[in-house]
Formats: sequence, C-alpha cells, structure tokens
Amino acid sequence: MGAYADTYERSINDPEGFWLEAARGVSWTKAPSKALDDSRAPLYRWFPDGELNTAYNALDRHVEAGRGDQPALIWDSPVTSSQRTYTYAALTEEVARFAGGLASLGVGKGDRVIIYMPMVPEAVVAMLACARIGAVHSVVFGGFAPKELAARIEDARPTAIVAASCGIEPGRVVEYKPIIEEALATTEHQPDRVVVLQREASRCELTGRDVDWNDLMATATPADPVPVAATDPLYVLYTSGTTGKPKGVVRDCGGHAVALTWSMGAVYDIHPGDVWWTASDVGWVVGHSYIVYAPLLIGATTVLYEGKPVGTPDAGAFWRVISQHGVTALFTAPTALRAVKRVDPDAAELAKYDLSGFTTLFMAGERLDPETYHWAHDKLGVPVVDHWWQTETGWPIAANLRGLEPMPVKPGSATMPVPGWNVQILDQSGERLPAGQEGAIAIELPLPPGALPTLWGDDERFKDAYLSRYEGYYLTGDSGYVDSDGYLFVMGRTDDVINVAGHRLSTGSMEAVLAAHPAVAECAVIGVADQLKGQLPRGFVVLKAGVDIPEQQLRDELVAAVRRDIGPVAAFRDVSVVEALPKTRSGKVLRKTMRGIADGRDEPVPSTIEDPNVLTALTEVLRPR
Ligand code: COA
Ligand code: AMP
Repeated sequence: MGAYADTYERSINDPEGFWLEAARGVSWTKAPSKALDDSRAPLYRWFPDGELNTAYNALDRHVEAGRGDQPALIWDSPVTSSQRTYTYAALTEEVARFAGGLASLGVGKGDRVIIYMPMVPEAVVAMLACARIGAVHSVVFGGFAPKELAARIEDARPTAIVAASCGIEPGRVVEYKPIIEEALATTEHQPDRVVVLQREASRCELTGRDVDWNDLMATATPADPVPVAATDPLYVLYTSGTTGKPKGVVRDCGGHAVALTWSMGAVYDIHPGDVWWTASDVGWVVGHSYIVYAPLLIGATTVLYEGKPVGTPDAGAFWRVISQHGVTALFTAPTALRAVKRVDPDAAELAKYDLSGFTTLFMAGERLDPETYHWAHDKLGVPVVDHWWQTETGWPIAANLRGLEPMPVKPGSATMPVPGWNVQILDQSGERLPAGQEGAIAIELPLPPGALPTLWGDDERFKDAYLSRYEGYYLTGDSGYVDSDGYLFVMGRTDDVINVAGHRLSTGSMEAVLAAHPAVAECAVIGVADQLKGQLPRGFVVLKAGVDIPEQQLRDELVAAVRRDIGPVAAFRDVSVVEALPKTRSGKVLRKTMRGIADGRDEPVPSTIEDPNVLTALTEVLRPR
C-alpha cells in the first residue's frame, strides 16, 4: 500500500493508536493515556484525561526550543502602509502580557471573550491570550452588522469584549465602536469590560466600562499558561446554519492541537521555520486554524495580511507578499484568484516578482472551479490544491496530502478523504451509494480530533442539526460523489447555506429580514452562480394584498435592511417583486428548482408542485441574465 492508503486505513481501523501517536506532536502538562472517549456516544470526546495549554504549545515551547528569534508573525497591511514582524519571543511576551491584562479585568478560565477586530496582530494576541488563561474566545467577523454581533453576545455571554476602534475597507473606514454600542443596546447580557485598540485611521471615545488596549498593556503583569483539560473549550465560532440563529461551533483544546499539528506536515507539507500565508480573515475558521493556530503550533512563520487580492494597490498584491516575505505556500479562496484574474487575466503582475521559493497554492472555502484551477496552474506553475472543509470540522476532510503522498490533481475534485475522516456518500434512505453516484456527503462517527464536539451550550441542537439525519453519521450539508479512483467531488450544499466570496451565509436569515418588511407577504432567497463571488443571494418577494409602494423604493429598502441587519458581507443587492412563489402542495417553496433555473439548468417540474403556472411565470425572471 502507498503511504496515503496505509495511513488512511490505520486512522479508520485503529483511531486509538493513530491519534495517541499523533498526540506526541503536542506538549502536554499531563499526557493522555487514552484517545477516544465514547462513553456518551454519539457525543465523542478526544484525549479525556489529557491536560495542556494551547498558547504554550503555539509560543513558549518554541522559545524554549531555541526559536525565540525566529519570526512567528509577519503583519503586512497595505491598507495602512504598515508592516510589523514579531519573533516567537516577542509574541510570547505580548500574549503573556495581554493575558495578564485580561486576568486583571476579571477574565478567568472558562469565561468567554468576544473579539471583534480586523486583521491586526492584536487580534492574534487577544486569541492566544484567552487560550493562555483558559478563557474561551469567540471572534466575530468585522463585516457583520450589530444585530449579528448581538446574537453572538447573547449566546456566548462574554465577560469582556476586545475590539479595535475601526477596520479599514478599501475606500472606507468601518467604525467598530458604534457597531458594538448598537449591539449592546439590544442585548440583555452585558460584558463587564470592553477593551479597545485605538487605530490611527479613526480613534473612538472611551467611556464607562471601556479600557484602552495600551493602558491595559502598560500596567499588566504577564500571565503564565494555565493547564486545561483537553476536552475544555478553546473557542466558539459562530457559523450560519439553515435558520437565522447562528450555530456556536465549539472547538476543544486537545483534539484541536493534535489535529492541526498533524495536518501541517501531512496535508500542507509545512514545517518549522517555513513561511506560510493564509489570505483569509481571523473571523472565519480558515483564519482560526491556518492563520493563527496551526502554523504557530508547529513553529512556522505566519503572514497576517490586512488587504485585498486586488485594489490594495493592484492585482500583484499576492505576488508581492509571497516574494517579499519568502512565502512557501499560500492558502486562499478561489474567489480571490478570480478577482485577480479579472483584473489581470494574463498575470502580467507576476513578472515583477520573484516567486522561486513558492511551492504550492492551496484553495478552499468554496469549490475550486476548473477554469480558475487551470488559470492558476498555468500562470504560477506550481501544484494548485483544492481541499474541502467546514467551520464545524476545523481542518480538511478531503485533500491532496502534499506531505504524505502527493497525488495527481483532478480539476473539480478535492482529491481523497483525509486520514481520520470516514467519508461516505448516502442516498435518501441512508444506503451507501456506489462510485459515480451523487448523494449526501456524510461522515461516519466518530469524527476525528479537531472536529466540533458539540454546539455551545446545546448538545440537543448539535444532535438535531448534524447527527439525526443518518444514524451513526455526521451530516455535512454538502452533496457530492466519489469517482472510480476514489476522488471526492463536492458539488454544493443541500441546505440553505450559500457561499458568497468564500463567506458562509444563510439565506434563511436573509429571508427573515425581508419577511419583516411591512409590505412583504412572503419571500424566498436563493444563492445563484456568480462569476466572481461563486454565489450571490437573490431575493423574491410577494407583496401583501392592497399594498401600494413604488417597486424601486421597496427594493432599496429591502437591500438596505439586509445590509443593516446582516452586514455588507451579505452582498445582497438583487431582489424582484413577483406575483407568487412556486410551492409544493404542502406549501414548501421550491427553492432548489428556482436555484436550478437561475443557474441555467433544465429543471424538471416536481410532481408535487401546487401550480405549475406559477413556476412558468417566474422562469423568465429567474433565467440567468
Ligand atoms: N469589515 C467590514 N466590512 C467588510 C469586511 C470587514 N472585515 N469584509 C468585507 N466587508 C464589506 C466590503 O467592504 C463590501 O462592502 P461594500 O458593499 O460597501 O462594498 C462588502 O462587505 C462585500 O465585501 P467582499 O465580499 O470583500 O466583496 P468585494 O467586492 O469588496 O471584494 C473579493 C471581492 C473577491 C476581492 C473579496 O471578496 C475577497 O477577497 N474574497 C476572499 C474572501 C476570503 O478570503 N474568504 C475566506 C474564506 S477561506
Ligand atoms: P465554512 O464553514 O465557511 O468553511 O464553509 C463550509 C462550506 O463551504 C462547505 O460545507 C462547502 O459547501 C463549502 N466549501 C468549502 N471548501 C470547499 C471546497 N474545497 N469545495 C467545495 N465546497 C467547499
């Protein structure tokens, strides 16, 4: 057997032995004697008797091993014309100090801290500082509106919020403090303190419970890492589900550290001292796992980029960062490359930079479409590797394992299941489907270390949302098939989750916003294919009888409402007023059929349809423009 097949078999047939061996890559204050705890199945826990500190593993141990002078983090911010490098020694010192500062504000083990910050090094410091004292961070992406922030505050009930005064988007400064105040004005839960990093682009007024980041750092006593149980939560990261209420994905400490450490070598072929760059945002799981934790856990150098693929200042930005910092491998979303390709189709900018040390381009967040794959591969001349994962899983489910056994790339496929993930394609009744047939992608339990053990404070919702559809399996919400060579093709979501420029959003929560408008009787939001962003939301509303409102005014109000309640990141700009929505006889809106027509497919008319004429009338509006 090859290295991949051998390792995969072992991970599935002997998870206990496999993961205890992988656990040796981590420093424990109490080494685990056991890998899997299945006593509460289908809720599983990993390394039940292990104890460790994740921040110690990401920082101090590298200093102790002689890497103190090696860069740990390079911040590159074209939007502020700034760059800053932290060595492992310096980052450890900053994190210990901020951890002490948080402790002085009353934040202790198990307390939650909401982090609402742009791509600044202090965001990484705040995350690791929480980890150092056993507090549980919950990072909220800056593109979300006050209402989304409020929902997360209410669910996580943080002791403190750590924020920056502003974020910087091309052409506009996003003031964070008013967003926080607006959110807190609506929440029953109130944090004790709000720590604010003042940025030059826009300082804010501090009052009452606010604390200036610099003041806190000036007086703080550095804190030592606190050992915590492997099963204790490291963070909660909220993600869009099918309903409007975001799901608090819990990450435990031990399984996460073990899985991410293992993944850096096996999946990415990245090793201590390598320079690694993930162009995402710390507000997403990709940012948590592969900007912050994984590269630092193994002693690599991570690049933190506050900028865009294009316009900051040009379409050569990615190539400039790679050459300037000696990046070995880049991980980004296909949408970012499509943005570069649109501005610079011949990749003329590439010629300006030396990319001789660049070995691999990793892509995830959405399906890597073959056209973008070929463009990137032709222009860069390095392996372009698609891999598939989710907020819930925390690390890749399927990938081309560059450090274990690189495989030929099949454009459109995320390659093979990663060791630890028992991926199966199931039909409606839960039967396994043969090669070539598309079905629901499910993962046989237990999920490997690093995957979510539950949802924050809600085991029942976790079971309902993921474990109840097929007994003994985790439901990914994606559909796809495995070909006769064992390659996995992920084709798209089976639920109401859409992916807009690599950002995961819920059409259900957009529908809730539209439905709240006084003129709207009923509505539907679907994701439709978009050349740049992969998908874009499109709304359809039916007016209440007797309502008289100019159509353009209504459309403007609805677009503004989604921006106000969900955030600019939803990119909701397209809404049509229609006579009726196509439904089944039991009253379910035929969103899947609408999606198919909008994407230009020949959709069969479902036999359960209530009135085929409604669908016929809508088809012209739906067809791709
Ligand atoms: N804070 C505040 N606002 C934000 C934001 C943030 N962190 N991130 C995005 N926004 C805003 C943008 O300013 C924009 O607002 P606008 O409507 O006023 O223009 C809106 O949200 C949509 O932003 P974005 O999705 O970034 O679209 P864009 O058209 O500005 O740029 C791309 C398109 C493709 C260049 C950009 O989406 C991109 O870089 N995508 C990569 C995403 C990624 O890495 N995802 C992580 C998955 S691995
Ligand atoms: P998120 O939780 O934001 O990481 O989004 C996860 C979802 O994004 C998955 O369920 C998929 O629908 C989609 N996704 C992520 N990576 C890929 C990929 N490589 N191929 C296809 N879909 C992907």
